Amino acid sequence: MAKTAQLIYDGKTYELPIIEGTEKETAIDISELLEKTGLTTLDIGYKNTGSTKSAITFLDGDKGILRYRGYSIEDLAAKSTFLEVTYLLIFGELPTKEQLTKFTSDITKHTLVHEDNKKILDGFPSTSHPMGVLASLFCSLTAFYPESLDPNRSSEGVYLSIVRSLAKMPTFAAWSYKNAVGHPVNYPDNSLDYCSRFLKMMYALPAEHYEVDPVVANALDKLLILHADHEQNCSTSTVRIVGSSKASIYSSISAGINALWGPLHGGANQEVIVMLEAIKQDGGNIEKWINKAKDKNDSFRLMGFGHRVYKNFDPRAKIIKKAADDVLAKLGINDPVLEIAMKLEEIALRDPYFIERKLYPNVDFYSGIIYRALGIPVDMFTVMFAMGRLPGWIAQWKELRENKEPIGRPRQVYVGTQSRAYVDITKR
Ligand code: CMC
Repeated sequence: MAKTAQLIYDGKTYELPIIEGTEKETAIDISELLEKTGLTTLDIGYKNTGSTKSAITFLDGDKGILRYRGYSIEDLAAKSTFLEVTYLLIFGELPTKEQLTKFTSDITKHTLVHEDNKKILDGFPSTSHPMGVLASLFCSLTAFYPESLDPNRSSEGVYLSIVRSLAKMPTFAAWSYKNAVGHPVNYPDNSLDYCSRFLKMMYALPAEHYEVDPVVANALDKLLILHADHEQNCSTSTVRIVGSSKASIYSSISAGINALWGPLHGGANQEVIVMLEAIKQDGGNIEKWINKAKDKNDSFRLMGFGHRVYKNFDPRAKIIKKAADDVLAKLGINDPVLEIAMKLEEIALRDPYFIERKLYPNVDFYSGIIYRALGIPVDMFTVMFAMGRLPGWIAQWKELRENKEPIGRPRQVYVGTQSRAYVDITKR
């Protein structure tokens, strides 16, 4: 017999269906609650609200498990490549050799962007944060490919938009950096792989020869895999909710880029370095900064610590910590900020405040350090995160569309003033 939960309210008993996921997660289906009982639910910040049934990513915050389509993040980071993982997330299965070759070649064909994008880029002052530039350039794809606005697009049309998104993202990302430093933009070199192509567009200058360092390209590929999806986080939920209104894939992703930008989400990797630098400049007094983070009258938080879902450890942080060690050793970098990071982690992990609240280093704690070692400027850290998260956003947008999900529209409990008569301005 199907399981139910009982709700007793106002002297009546209601049976609510229990939904079970493939990993034995259980949820109460409240979709008919309002209709049956007149009650809505309140869960500010959606801390315990399932917004969809998804078959893309599974994570268990207590056990520190993260899997894409059933494959562990540890296996994928060690054995796969970013484009293979991208295919897996979007289409549900690891590609065969032929499928991966075709997918890679389709993406490579579309790396160039319309020349008019340069005019849009030129309109941004060099003080613009690259995330704002990236979100705008990405949204401008709706203008260059207006057919993407058709909510009933064929699956071939959707495939083309997916390929274009993946192909043009690194071009826009590199251009958002060129705008900030006032250098001429580079065009994509399609003889290179995805990450090397991006690095060349970002760093090459017309006056000098530029050779991509394979250590840097491989490390970047791994970082992108770790960021590729993370189920219904803030930016992904944004993509899904915008997509649910049948907005185009480009505008949905652009909204996701904006959501990711915030310091409590993807912007945290940038804030980690800003914080570590500040601690260094302050004489390296780590205890003082830990105390600041614990002080409820101080808004400062230890950036790169804590996670909405992981309450034991963040499996991505473990992989990145190891990758950061490898990259620093291979590139022969001795970073004093890294030393501060290690000490900070050690002290925080012993402190009852952090233990009681289950606050552990998250993915952003180490990704900032590794990006710095790879020579990526701080303002570009969140752009790297966006490049990595793109396949997840696409997969979630596609799933929403295929599942024919209704428009996202949460409820509220109104706590404002009750009905009152309008008062003329002369009488206020
Ligand atoms: N430093 C100090 N105290 C903290 C921190 C922190 N980094 N994070 C949470 N707390 C405290 C918080 O003050 C609260 O204390 P109390 O119970 O005494 O009021 C308690 O821990 C629970 O915090 P919360 O804000 O209710 O937890 P949340 O699940 O809503 O927030 C978070 C999760 C990631 C927004 C938060 O931990 C945070 O702000 N961390 C710093 C920013 C950061 O590193 N973000 C990157 C997240 S991982 C990348 C991604 O997926 O985007």
